[in-house]
Amino acid sequence: MWKWIIVLCVACSVTLSAEVKVLAFAGSTRKDSVNKKLVYGAAQVARQMQANVTVIDLKDYPTPFYDEDLETSEGMPIKAKQLRQLMIQSDVILIASPEYNSSLSAVLKNAIDWASRDEAGGGSREAFAGKKFALMSASPGSGGGGRGLVHLRAIIENVGGTVIPQQVVVPDAYNAFDAQGHLKNEKIKQEIQQLIQTAMDSITR
Ligand SMILES: Cc1cc2nc3c(=O)[nH]c(=O)nc-3n(C[C@H](O)[C@H](O)[C@H](O)COP(=O)(O)O)c2cc1C
Repeated sequence: MWKWIIVLCVACSVTLSAEVKVLAFAGSTRKDSVNKKLVYGAAQVARQMQANVTVIDLKDYPTPFYDEDLETSEGMPIKAKQLRQLMIQSDVILIASPEYNSSLSAVLKNAIDWASRDEAGGGSREAFAGKKFALMSASPGSGGGGRGLVHLRAIIENVGGTVIPQQVVVPDAYNAFDAQGHLKNEKIKQEIQQLIQTAMDSITR
């Protein structure tokens, strides 16, 4: 009897330790954001792959623009601390970023800047190093926001993150989702599936 309980406990702990932790968010705070629809769909795919998925809205993490004087006088804002901790606890980070003037959104860049600091006011790679980032973008334009991902990829790699080589872009995004917010295009759905699978497979324990 005790022998079987021990075997069961060992099996449980192996399963739990093998669980991949995924954090998913969009670089847009807009209510009807197509990037939120995109990342929420991708998070659902990760859940189907048995990942432990946390989905957040950056609107719930309002943070002042990074300012070194503010950091010195008041320290890291509470919401920036919370977001950074979520990143530190994650193995895989899924981001769907809008393209603003050929780059990423200010909201997303600001979140990355705060996350690249530690709570003592120094530079830190803890929220990036060892993490696998899967990037996506949706835009009403024909490029699907791919130009913004060039910048986002470079920034994340420069602060120590590993960005999965594949990425997913959704052009004509205002017509790409149905009334329930699900993607209509089967090829893009397959690309998302492959992107998430690659990210999950890249986690070694
Ligand atoms: C300031 C600004 C700049 C934009 N620049 C681009 C751009 O360079 N390329 C593009 O495809 N769309 C651009 N757009 C359109 C956005 O892709 C569109 O607003 C999109 O819906 C934003 O993503 P969201 O729906 O997730 O909020 C821009 C929008 C704004 C407000």
